[in-house]
Amino acid sequence: MLILTAILAYLLGSVPFGLVITRALGLGDLRQIGSGNIGATNVLRTGHKGAALATLVCDVGKGAAAVLLARLLISEDAAWVAGFAAFLGHCYPLYLGFKGGKGVATFLGTVLALAWPVGLAVCGTWLVVAAVSRISSLAALVAAALAPLYAWYAGLSWFALALVAMAALIFLRHRANIERLLSGQEPRIGKKP
Ligand code: G3P
Repeated sequence: MLILTAILAYLLGSVPFGLVITRALGLGDLRQIGSGNIGATNVLRTGHKGAALATLVCDVGKGAAAVLLARLLISEDAAWVAGFAAFLGHCYPLYLGFKGGKGVATFLGTVLALAWPVGLAVCGTWLVVAAVSRISSLAALVAAALAPLYAWYAGLSWFALALVAMAALIFLRHRANIERLLSGQEPRIGKKP
C-alpha cells in the first residue's frame, strides 16, 4: 500500500501546474522565460500576477493534498511517504522527462500538511526573508535550511531528518541561483535574470 501511495503521490506532484497554467493563458513556454523554472516565481516574470498566484496555490496544494489524502485514506506513515513522493514528483516529473522545478512551493504544502506549526514557521521565514531581500531563491534557501531546526525544536526529530533530506534537494535544485546570489546577480522578485 505504501508503494502505491508513493506512486500516486509522485504522479500528482509531477503535474507541472506552472506550465499548464501559462500555456492555457497563452503566455508562452515557461521554460524559455526568465530562469526557465516551472514555479510561481518564474510565472510572475511573465507579468501575469494571477497566473503566478494560481501556480503557487496549485503547487502548494498538490503537496498538501497528497499528505492529507494519504492520512485520511490510509495512515500517518502513508502521509509522510506521500508528502516526500509529491515533492520528488515536482522536482523530477515523469511528464517532463524528469526535468522539473525547484520544489519550494510543494515543500511548503507538504510541511504544512505534515506538521502545521513547523509549516507556519517555514512559511513565515520565507515571507520575512522575501520581504526584506525581495529575492525568492534566498527566501527559499533560508526557509529550507531552517526547516529541520524548527522540527527539531518542536520535538519532531524524525521529521527533522526528513526535512534535512528535502532541504538538501532544494539546495541542489538551486545551484544556478546560489551562483547568481554569490556573484550578486540574482534578480529581485518579478525581475528577469
Ligand atoms: O521557488 C523557486 C525560487 O526559489 C527560485 O525561482 O525562477 O528565480 O529560479 P527562480
